Amino acid sequence: MFDIPYLDLPPLRSAAGTVRLPGSKSISNRVLLLAGLAQGTTAVHDLLDSDDTRVMLDALAALGCGLRRDDGALHVTGLGGRLAVHEAQLFLGNAGTAMRPLAAALAVLAATQGGRFELSGVARMHERPIRDLVDALRPLGCTIEDLGTPGYPPLRISGTAGGRLATTTPIRVRGDVSSQFLTALLLALPLVADQDAIVIEVEGELISQPYIDITLALLARFGIQVVREGWQRFTVPPGSRYQTPGAIHVEGDASSASYFIALGALAATAAAPIRIEGVGSDSIQGDIRFVDAARAMGAQLSSGPGWLQVQRGRWPLAGITLDCKHIPDAAMTLAVMALYADTPTLLTGIASWRVKETDRIAAMAAELRKVGAAVVEGDDFIEVWPPTKWLPAVIRTYDDHRMAMCLALAAFNPLAGGHVPLRILDPRCVAKTFPDYFETLFSVATAAPEDVPVITIDGPTASGKGTLAAALAAALGWHLLDSGALYRATGLAAQWDGISPDEEAAVARLAGQLDLRFEGGRTWLRGRDITEELRLESTGLLASRVSAHPGVRRALHDAQLALRRVPGLVADGRDMGTVVFADAALKVFLTASPTERAERRHKQLISKGISASIADLRADLEARDARDKGRSVAPLEPAEDAQLLDNSHLSIEESVQRVLGWWQQRGPFPA
Ligand code: C5P
Repeated sequence: MFDIPYLDLPPLRSAAGTVRLPGSKSISNRVLLLAGLAQGTTAVHDLLDSDDTRVMLDALAALGCGLRRDDGALHVTGLGGRLAVHEAQLFLGNAGTAMRPLAAALAVLAATQGGRFELSGVARMHERPIRDLVDALRPLGCTIEDLGTPGYPPLRISGTAGGRLATTTPIRVRGDVSSQFLTALLLALPLVADQDAIVIEVEGELISQPYIDITLALLARFGIQVVREGWQRFTVPPGSRYQTPGAIHVEGDASSASYFIALGALAATAAAPIRIEGVGSDSIQGDIRFVDAARAMGAQLSSGPGWLQVQRGRWPLAGITLDCKHIPDAAMTLAVMALYADTPTLLTGIASWRVKETDRIAAMAAELRKVGAAVVEGDDFIEVWPPTKWLPAVIRTYDDHRMAMCLALAAFNPLAGGHVPLRILDPRCVAKTFPDYFETLFSVATAAPEDVPVITIDGPTASGKGTLAAALAAALGWHLLDSGALYRATGLAAQWDGISPDEEAAVARLAGQLDLRFEGGRTWLRGRDITEELRLESTGLLASRVSAHPGVRRALHDAQLALRRVPGLVADGRDMGTVVFADAALKVFLTASPTERAERRHKQLISKGISASIADLRADLEARDARDKGRSVAPLEPAEDAQLLDNSHLSIEESVQRVLGWWQQRGPFPA
């Protein structure tokens, strides 16, 4: 996906269609660790590919596990409970689902088989507590040193071969800060329960119990039947040994589903609902219970194994009061749905938000206020009053994927009386669990065409407009229309069919039914790759001839309008700012000097091994300028309201920055 500083979302009005969810993060990282510890090779299907799983995979590779990818599955060959590598430094990013269980597993393995491991992460990981886990492991005889602030990563874990662990008395762990500490112990202790049973007792209340259910279900798949007594006592049976189930499938992420469930409840109709594939009524993930909360707010929902379908029910949504201990992650989505309710929403039992990727209570309160909501926050609750007036907000995301994903839903404000765009800073943070989140959202969300921003780029031949347009589209995360390519392809199609470029009606007919495909930087016409042919000078000449016919221009008009899609469009070409997108938010006309353009073209040709004289090129350019300026149809001229940009002495990056500066000035967002 794009690596961009911000993503602007226009006001959005509706959503419909099918989305496929990426694999569950919680299941993926547990399965990876279990497969890495087990005897044998496990084929993992539908694994999530994200930042958090990547750090787990890197750690497993560093520990000597075998990893091989083919036919869509990842094949993990496990250690069979025996350390293959006794010293390693593991960097675990901001993945709590990697840090906690790996710390526990390596602690018990090092204590019995010898080893020395250092576990660290990003700065925020070093602010996320791990003390309760360390406190549970040390009395067993594990050696764990805090390398930074006591009670937080980074940690050094060590031990000597032949050591024994004191596992005959129950191991006590607190359950009220994070359930990941209990999960970590449950995943680690079967490694040392070959002789005797090991009992774990939870002190105090256990939060996020559904995550423990996932852990127990996956342990069972790998051959360990933990006996659970209430939520207080767990017994790992004697003779435990991890065995691969052979193959395992990772279901779609139920927390990720929450954004699309909310989307359906806000913006989908019965005739055109949102269908979610990858997770459904048979899910083992606790966050699937988000569907009950969404229903309580007004969503109309049906489900089956592996799928959910959602549409708007009650509207406006109803505010709710809910203890969210059972759905801590998905509950963030409720806080954003609260913007669309007609009464306030009170979410309690969310103290764990404060120790997640960021302090999510503080972050959520601050960002919801920016769009116009009134918010009251406490140690373990948040209360949200819907906006009376929606504001165009610049949303901070705090390197927290869920902040970016749920706040994006505030762009549907036109459904609740607003009409403002939204700017999401650092949108790439979604890569933690859902790298394609925005692409997926845009594949089902629609805006009124006039609300989708367009920036047009025009200028004489060889001014670098194509390069600037592409760089700008990449920097903004927008779609790109290279309108010249449409005329060039029309010219080629005419040539293939033996039609003269002067036969207006016949060429217009071809233009109206171009079978043209753009994919991964290449272009196909009628199934044939024309990427190179398209850029030939001779093709440019053909384009300039066919484009002089009003009938041809009309035939391509609707195809160009159809590309005005969420989140925005950069359109490059002759009449983009004057005719096709006359209402564009920003129009840029490039004006490099003929000498500069001739030199650029010369460089381009030389790099392709074609020799040419600069003087001849310059004469050609000037002749083409004159012809393009003089023609009656779509002459080369700046739109009246165009910004002129002389890029003779600017790098591409400098030109992009200049245009982004104008875009910032014209937008409603505070700098
Ligand atoms: O931009 P490009 O060099 O690919 O365009 C090739 C030719 O197609 C231009 O010289 C121009 O005559 C024509 N064209 C046009 N309207 C557009 C884009 C290109 O007439 N929107």
